[in-house]
Amino acid sequence: MNILVAGGAGYIGSHICVELLEAGHDVVVIDDFSNSRPEVLDYIKEITGKAVKFYEFNILDEAKTKQVFAENKLDAIIHCAAFKAVGESVVKPIEYYMNNLTTTLIMAKMMRDYEVKSIVFSSSATVYGDPETVPLTEDCKLGETTNPYGTSKAMMERILMDVAHAYPQMSVSLLRYFNPIGAHESGLIGENPKGIPNNLMPYIMKVAIGELPELGVFGNDYDTPDGTGVRDYIHVVDLAKGHVLAIEKYATPGVHICNLGTGKGYSVLDIVNAFELVNNIKIPYVIKDRRPGDIATCYADPTRAKEELDWVAEKTLDDMCRDTWNFAKKHLKDD
Ligand code: UFG
Repeated sequence: MNILVAGGAGYIGSHICVELLEAGHDVVVIDDFSNSRPEVLDYIKEITGKAVKFYEFNILDEAKTKQVFAENKLDAIIHCAAFKAVGESVVKPIEYYMNNLTTTLIMAKMMRDYEVKSIVFSSSATVYGDPETVPLTEDCKLGETTNPYGTSKAMMERILMDVAHAYPQMSVSLLRYFNPIGAHESGLIGENPKGIPNNLMPYIMKVAIGELPELGVFGNDYDTPDGTGVRDYIHVVDLAKGHVLAIEKYATPGVHICNLGTGKGYSVLDIVNAFELVNNIKIPYVIKDRRPGDIATCYADPTRAKEELDWVAEKTLDDMCRDTWNFAKKHLKDD
């Protein structure tokens, strides 16, 4: 198939490109490098031996987006072009809603106008809000989102569901990611956020390379086994493989909703300890106040992914820690 990956130079998008190319698909990428780097495209080629067809611009530029759809006969879209920093979204709600919602609307319009049958959307477990019970199944009710980023994800889901309803020939897949971490085992692509990281693993990485002195652990008084927040960390390569399967198995028209998580919860201190043990590096940390908007525990029930996509996360927490460090050594040290 010929598949457009919107945001294909980003952390998750680049891993999706690799898995699609390795599965024999052709890949078209649109990315504006707002949170990614051009060399990622070379790395994708180095890993797979194949190149993506690349366009550099923001999808908000509707005329250029139209041109891509006119030039390429696309079979499916994977939409992972979005702003994603929770804290930044609170101070820049207009930019977040403008970018995330408008690009989704433009994608949907192009699908309709150019008769593209399916879209796989990067959604997030954030749409469940503060869960009443865990593990989270896809039937759990959606919760209050606590920041414009999370709200934009919930709204994008809603937009795509309404589009699927209006155009019943379309397949809309909403993949709800839990906490993607890790990097490709080659160490060539991974997460390399600009500035001070918000998320746990990128922060640990920067402490490990000596760029930041210590990790702040946001609260140790949650109702969890060691008092720190528990999340479902999933290796980004497992996550990317889930997209290839979704393209293949969710081809039937309608809305398909699926969690991508491992079903296991690890605390912040579990992650610190695993990273230290696997990589033999000390990660100094201090306990800080809780971060506003954080929840105690969040992990997936991945049953549906197994049943419908024949997908299970294969990589372990040790793999995630080892691959993260392998990537950091190669890339972050010389930045
Ligand atoms: N944490 C720290 N110190 C840090 C960063 C994080 O202790 O410097 C803790 C958090 O308090 C939380 C855990 O590490 O307990 C994970 O935090 P992340 O910021 O890595 O991830 P979140 O679970 O807060 O959010 C992630 C994604 C969101 C997504 C959400 C879905 O960043 O995009 O999962 O559940 F919406």
